[in-house]
Amino acid sequence: MNNIETFERLESNVRMYCRDLPLVFDTAQGSKIRGEDGREYLDFFAGAGALNYGHNDPRMRDALIAYLSANGVTHALDLHTTTKRQFLESLERDLFKPRGWDYKVQFTGPTGADAVEAALKLARKATGRSKIVSFYGAYHGMTAGALAVTGNRTRRGPGLSTDVVFVPYEDSPYGAFDSIGFLERLANDQGSGSELPAAVIVESVQIQAGVYPASNQWLQALRQWTRAHGVLLICDEIQAGCGRTGDFFGFERSGVVPDLITCAKSIGGYGLPMAIVLIGAGLDVWEPGDHIGTFRGNQLAFLTAQIALGYWRDEQFLKLLAANCAAMERAVAGYAEIPGVASARCRGMIAGIDFGRSNVALAKDAQQRVLQAGVLVDRCGPNGEIIKLMPPVNTPTEQLEQGLKAFGEAVAAALGQ
Ligand SMILES: Cc1ncc(COP(=O)(O)O)c(C=O)c1O
Repeated sequence: MNNIETFERLESNVRMYCRDLPLVFDTAQGSKIRGEDGREYLDFFAGAGALNYGHNDPRMRDALIAYLSANGVTHALDLHTTTKRQFLESLERDLFKPRGWDYKVQFTGPTGADAVEAALKLARKATGRSKIVSFYGAYHGMTAGALAVTGNRTRRGPGLSTDVVFVPYEDSPYGAFDSIGFLERLANDQGSGSELPAAVIVESVQIQAGVYPASNQWLQALRQWTRAHGVLLICDEIQAGCGRTGDFFGFERSGVVPDLITCAKSIGGYGLPMAIVLIGAGLDVWEPGDHIGTFRGNQLAFLTAQIALGYWRDEQFLKLLAANCAAMERAVAGYAEIPGVASARCRGMIAGIDFGRSNVALAKDAQQRVLQAGVLVDRCGPNGEIIKLMPPVNTPTEQLEQGLKAFGEAVAAALGQ
C-alpha cells in the first residue's frame, strides 16, 4: 500500500517525477530501492544521474557515520576544512593528473543550475562578450540564466535572456544537422545578425533531449571552431559526467579539452548535493565574492566524493563498468528490434528507447508496465516519448541483466508483442 494522500494534500503542484512513479520509498541499497509497502525495485532512474554509484555505498556510508560521530564540521561556507583539502587533492590526483589537465575548482551553490549560471557569467566576464551559443534540445537547468540556454519550449517562460543563439545539435528527433557549418556561417557572414558569442555551451550527450550522443568528430570540430574564434567551450557534464558514459566525462573519448566544465549530480558520490565548475588555465578571472552563496561545497559530499573518485583507480570497478556498458549496448540493440520501438540509442550506461514523436501515451504505458515489473525508469525527449535507462554504473552485472530483461519484456508487452 502506498499512501500518497499527504503529498497530494500538502506538496506543491510543481512536483513531477513522483507522478509517474507514485510510490513512497523507504530504504535503498546499491541499485535497489524499497517502497514502504515492502516491495523492492531496481532503480534504473538513479536520481536522474545523481546516484551513479548506487544508494548508500557501504564505504561512503561508514565514512559519513564515522565523520558525524567525531563531530566533523558539517557546514563551513567557503572556509578551509580538512575534508575540502582532501577532496581537492583527490580531484588533482585521480582526475587532473592522469589526464594532464590544469583546472581551478569553483564551488558553486549545490545545484547543477548554479554551476551553469557561474560558467555563463564567467565566460561573459572573461571575454567581455554577452552572447551564448546553445543547442536545440539542450537542458541546462531551471534558474533564469540556465533556462535561457535550455531549448525545450515547454520549460521556458517569458522574460528570459535573449542573448542566446540556438543552433540545432548534431542529431535530434528531427534528424541530423550541420551545426558546425552553421556556426562557420554565423562567424563569417557579416549578415548573420549575430556578433561572436562569449561561449558555446554543450552536452556531450543530450540526455533530456532523448539521449543523443555527440560524435567525436563533431565535438572536435566544435572545439576547433571555438578556438579559432576565441570563443570559450563550456561542456555541461552535469548528467553525462561521473561515469555515466563509461568514461569519467562524456567528452573524454573525443580528446577535446573544454575551457569550462560544469559538474554536479554524482560528483558527491552519495547523492549529496554539490556542484563545481572546472575553470581552464588563465580563465579564473573572478574577483573574490563575484559568485557566492551560503551552501558552496558540502562537507559531507567532500568526504563521499573522494571515495567515489578513488573508484576510478580501482581495477574491479573499472572492469565492472566495462562489462556493464557492454551489457547495456547488447540489450539496447535488442530493444531496437522490438516492433513498435522507433529507435534505441545508447552511450555507455545511458540509453534512450524512443517510441516515436506521436507516441507519448505508448511510452507512458510502457513506463507503468516496467514499474509493475519492478524497475524504475524515467522518460525524456521533447514530449516524454523516450524512456531513459540510467542504472547505477556499478550495478552488479547479473542484476543489470535481470533489469534489462524485465524492461525488454515489459516494453514488448506494452507494444502488444
Ligand atoms: C545537463 C544538465 N545540466 C544542468 C542540469 C541542472 O541541474 P540541477 O537540476 O541540479 O539544477 C541538469 C539536470 O538535469 C542537466 O541534466
